[in-house]
Amino acid sequence: MPSTDAWWRDAVIYQIYPRSFADGNGDGMGDLPGITARLPRLRELGIDAVWLSPFYVSPQHDAGYDVADYRDVDPRFGTLGDADKLITEAHDLGLKVIVDLVPNHTSSEHAWFRAALAAPPGSPERDRYIFRDEPPNSWQSVFGGPAWQQVEDGQWYLHLFDVSQPDLNWDHPEVRAEFLDILRFWLDRGVDGFRVDVAHGLVKDAELTDWTQPSVVLGGLEPAGTPPPMWDQEGVHEIYRQWRSVLDGYSPPRILVAEAWVQPEERLARYVRPDEMHQAFNFPYLEAPWTPAELREVIDSSLAATGAVGATTTWVLSNHDVVRHASRLGFPVTEKRKPGIGIGDPQPDTGLGLRRARAASLLMLGLPGSAYLYQGEELGLPEHTTLADEVRQDPAWERSGHAERGRDGCRVPIPWEADAPSYGFGPGDHSWLPQPAVWAEYALDRQVDVPGSTYELYRSALRLRRERGLGAGSLAWTGSAESVLAFRNGDLLVLTNFGPEPVALPDGVRVLLSSEPLDDGRVPTDVTVWAVP
Ligand code: NOJ
Repeated sequence: MPSTDAWWRDAVIYQIYPRSFADGNGDGMGDLPGITARLPRLRELGIDAVWLSPFYVSPQHDAGYDVADYRDVDPRFGTLGDADKLITEAHDLGLKVIVDLVPNHTSSEHAWFRAALAAPPGSPERDRYIFRDEPPNSWQSVFGGPAWQQVEDGQWYLHLFDVSQPDLNWDHPEVRAEFLDILRFWLDRGVDGFRVDVAHGLVKDAELTDWTQPSVVLGGLEPAGTPPPMWDQEGVHEIYRQWRSVLDGYSPPRILVAEAWVQPEERLARYVRPDEMHQAFNFPYLEAPWTPAELREVIDSSLAATGAVGATTTWVLSNHDVVRHASRLGFPVTEKRKPGIGIGDPQPDTGLGLRRARAASLLMLGLPGSAYLYQGEELGLPEHTTLADEVRQDPAWERSGHAERGRDGCRVPIPWEADAPSYGFGPGDHSWLPQPAVWAEYALDRQVDVPGSTYELYRSALRLRRERGLGAGSLAWTGSAESVLAFRNGDLLVLTNFGPEPVALPDGVRVLLSSEPLDDGRVPTDVTVWAVP
């Protein structure tokens, strides 16, 4: 259980990707009853909260990030009653529930966009979106291709993502009022917070100034400096202040978490000033290469930037938009890679990736602040790196003209039982994306109570983190070896060795946890150790 009323400050929050977590009815697609049935397993893992990616009514052109009705559950995932049940059962288990909110764009099947298409140019219906007679600039969609789409009567509308995701006009009072109402709808149903999708994108610069560079959000950060005209505009902050005042009317405290691909850290910290959001995903940390110097730098800059505004720092290594860290870390350290991996692409070194992923996770869980986990990382799950292109569903694959494989590889349904159909994902024998045969060796039932398994490593780390109050602790660097990262959080020593030779621990320490077996008491390459005096 989190230690204070400000529960998010040190919480470990587990991301559930509903379509790929657990399939209750056997149709091959995960659902809310499936999630509810498995909540006790998450309680056993030792997390504090779950965040659910969107489960609202949606044509699923972007896996639910294209919402057609913000106040109802897509029949593929269940009913509103199922959502209520999930929230109640999570609370009974002592778990908080965060839901996703997608305010930058709706689905093109949302009633507002249908009305906009049915109405003439210049109508109030069109004014809730961003329609123009001509494309006023050459902005690119994040998924590739132009960000303007022409409709039958000749006008064009803006879509920073898929063509089925028209951007809302946040200058419109009805748009603002609608989202305040949606917030209240879910708050009144008992949710503990919202993960705010594309939080840095709602407000565009007033002139829609031209910008010719491709956008690199989602697994990439725009270069630091003046933000591009579609991202991180000053006007977004006023929206979050208003939302915050709504949330502050609820008790116990509910939270807002920004998905904002913004850097540097000081810029990101503006989203978590005292009267705005509570947390922002730390993507600069996720993006940092596996080197001690770069990790130390981003840890320092994150703690300093959030500390300066009195917010908690978050840490994250994986989510549904990036290559899973057990695969990402299996590539040469300095190599810059495109999103996604497929047949014919260079393949990661799986053993190295898992070894580093375990070390990276143990390092992360030793840091003060709040940590986000992505379903399956506690199993050491890699990316599906040989998914057939024909089954890809991420719009980025088509829209990029097949230049990017996209994000399907990290979204494959997770394995629960090694010897069951669909690896225990559900009672059926198939899943919406095919699972690779290696899933058997990662299945939960192969790892529970198995000493040294990745699952038991996470479980021990989460237990110790809670017992020792690490999330609410503080960081003090210790030692100065170039290839080692070492800090104390309270009396816990966290040490990661990046160098080629094993390193000795200080005399007399007692090792509590280690991401791999030690080498005659010394810490081998790519291993993290937790030790106490
Ligand atoms: C960020 C989400 O995480 C991603 O999955 C989605 O495609 C875009 N926002 C657009 O909503």
